[in-house]
Amino acid sequence: NRGADVDFGFTEEQLMIQDVARRIAQEKIAPSAEHHDRTGEFPLDNIRTLGENGLMGIEVPAEYGGSGMDPISYVLAMVEIAAADAAHSTIVSVNNSLFCNGILTHGTEEQKQTYVRAIAEGKEIGAFALTEPQSGSDATAMRCKAVRQADGSYKINGKKSWITSGPVAKYFVLFAMTDPDKGARGITAFIVDGDREGFGRGKTEPKLGIRASATCEIEFNDYVARPEDVLGEEGHGFKIAMGVLDAGRIGIASQAIGIARAAYEATLEYVKERKAFGQPIGAFQMTQAKIADMKCKLDASLLLTLRAAWTKGQGSRFTTEAAVAKLTASEAAMWITHQALQIHGGMGYSKEMPIERYFRDAKITEIYEGTSEIQRLVIARHETGLR
Ligand code: CAA
Ligand code: FAD
Repeated sequence: NRGADVDFGFTEEQLMIQDVARRIAQEKIAPSAEHHDRTGEFPLDNIRTLGENGLMGIEVPAEYGGSGMDPISYVLAMVEIAAADAAHSTIVSVNNSLFCNGILTHGTEEQKQTYVRAIAEGKEIGAFALTEPQSGSDATAMRCKAVRQADGSYKINGKKSWITSGPVAKYFVLFAMTDPDKGARGITAFIVDGDREGFGRGKTEPKLGIRASATCEIEFNDYVARPEDVLGEEGHGFKIAMGVLDAGRIGIASQAIGIARAAYEATLEYVKERKAFGQPIGAFQMTQAKIADMKCKLDASLLLTLRAAWTKGQGSRFTTEAAVAKLTASEAAMWITHQALQIHGGMGYSKEMPIERYFRDAKITEIYEGTSEIQRLVIARHETGLR
């Protein structure tokens, strides 16, 4: 089994970027996490700091403004950022794996220099627009249309919903239908500039969790995309989206691990301090069973996510590994934060502690970048060859 063959030794570079991420996460992000959750204020300052330290383009080569690191470094850094605040890690994840990755893999030299550099350096924010009001899981059912004009440009009309960083992003990787008769093979990817005519942003969505990650609908009214705004080839957009999401799912798995680790570590402290019936609550067998199960799920999630990252780093297809990691880690995060809240009793339910925030933040990891049902579908189709 190729997937089980993992080298567990981290390199000095990998540990170094983990250290940088941990330092910024603990010194800058964690102290303001409660504020950002309460107010929903977009953490632009912190995002700039992450960019200046190479964390907005971790896998982007230095010639395009990034850190030139590998997928394992990306996992290690994302876990640290998410453990401090999940909303920050959502913004980081979209910039790194959905925006930069797609353009690096499919873009022209000019597209890489123009768009990847600005995002990797944290000077601008990037976004990824696939979902529409009537099509989320069933992504090929999109209605946003790009119609080719006589001069080779495209006129784009339609809506995209739930766009992470939509209210603040400068550039978007957009998927639109150029040939509706061809279904998945009629979808084309474009790079869109949010400052150009014909582009509109809706109101920021109020959300259960990751509240400082700004999300909104975006709208296109006769937006004109130039021929040089096409990413990859016409009709190849859906494969580009799916390939990019494979990488994105490693990022979301890492985010889930970070949230779960924060909840687990807080719980380990609490069970030693809090007493009931004359002993620390951590001495009760029922609490110990919960701690053991939390530890198993956390470790399993991390190992599966490192396996997915390692497979990606080998240059092999990693669709299944990424789906296994994302499914396991997101469901583990939901379970672990639920148990953490229960173990904290009333304090778990209170806004005086971050546990209820971890619980609210964990839920999104089971929904975006493909719901748990979609991950199961991807895995089972691969395993059975049936659909
Ligand atoms: N890599 C490359 N190509 C792929 C692929 C992959 N991982 N997955 C599918 N394809 C190709 C197929 O080979 C097929 O190609 P051909 O036409 O040449 O045969 C084509 O794409 C269509 O594939 P399917 O027939 O499998 O397509 P489907 O309609 O059955 O859908 C799906 C498959 C897995 C359900 C897909 O629609 C999906 O992943 N849905 C979930 C959407 C999603 O994850 N959205 C996330 C939005 S971004 C986001 O959420 C960001 C954020 O939170 C921060
Ligand atoms: P639906 O597809 O309508 O699904 C509803 C339910 O039906 C789910 O439980 C689903 O699992 C289930 N279901 C659907 N199909 C099947 C099936 N075949 N078998 C079994 N069950 C099924 N999208 C972007 O493009 N860019 C972004 O930046 C982005 N950011 C997001 C940020 C947030 C906070 C949120 C909430 C969403 C974001 N999304 C983004 C959209 C996200 O990817 C979708 O919400 C997600 O893919 C699910 O789509 P949906 O909401 O339309 O649910």
